Amino acid sequence: MKIGVLASHRGSNLQTVMDGCLSGVIEAKLVVAISNNSSSLALQRAKGAGIATYHLSSQTHPDECKLDQAICGALSQHQVDLVLTLGYMKKLGRETLSQFKNRIINIHPSLLPKYGGHGMYGGRVHQAVLDAGEKETGVSIHLLDNEYDTGPVIAQSKLDVQTGDTPETLAGRVLELEHSLLVDTLAKIAQRKILLPN
Ligand code: GRF
Repeated sequence: MKIGVLASHRGSNLQTVMDGCLSGVIEAKLVVAISNNSSSLALQRAKGAGIATYHLSSQTHPDECKLDQAICGALSQHQVDLVLTLGYMKKLGRETLSQFKNRIINIHPSLLPKYGGHGMYGGRVHQAVLDAGEKETGVSIHLLDNEYDTGPVIAQSKLDVQTGDTPETLAGRVLELEHSLLVDTLAKIAQRKILLPN
């Protein structure tokens, strides 16, 4: 299984996938990383590991359709079987979504359908969880569609919100859970213990 990743910033999830593939826990190869952010740590991590990287954004492709084609082209050129959006802050275009239908997976730091949607990212998610007095939160991995955080959920993992939690403490624990759920889910997809729809 060949994996392509899109990421915008830190890339800790991308790192986890690279490590999981290298150690053999995930029977797959990360073959390409794409970012809209040329100075992202995500791209640096991938480059450092010798993985093909592309900066593709409205700067490199001011025309939205051309950008979509470039992203789809890079993924296709590297014969990607599974696309992961890991902290990717942009929507994917029509061509990429249709070419990789049911083969694009997103990770989100809440128990979807709660606390997803446009503008729900990073600390905002955890602040909203705390504001609502939730007793638990967690991580969702879902198939990507053309909306934010709405595609079918394929894996979820929960953790307890503790007294005194802040958005930062919660973010730390949720991120650890993201990493473990991501590795576990990808390992199962590679072993066909989780079957993605056709
Ligand atoms: C993660 O919390 C992910 O769920 C969200 O953005 C964050 C990305 O973190 N979509 P990183 O760039 O993988 O470190």
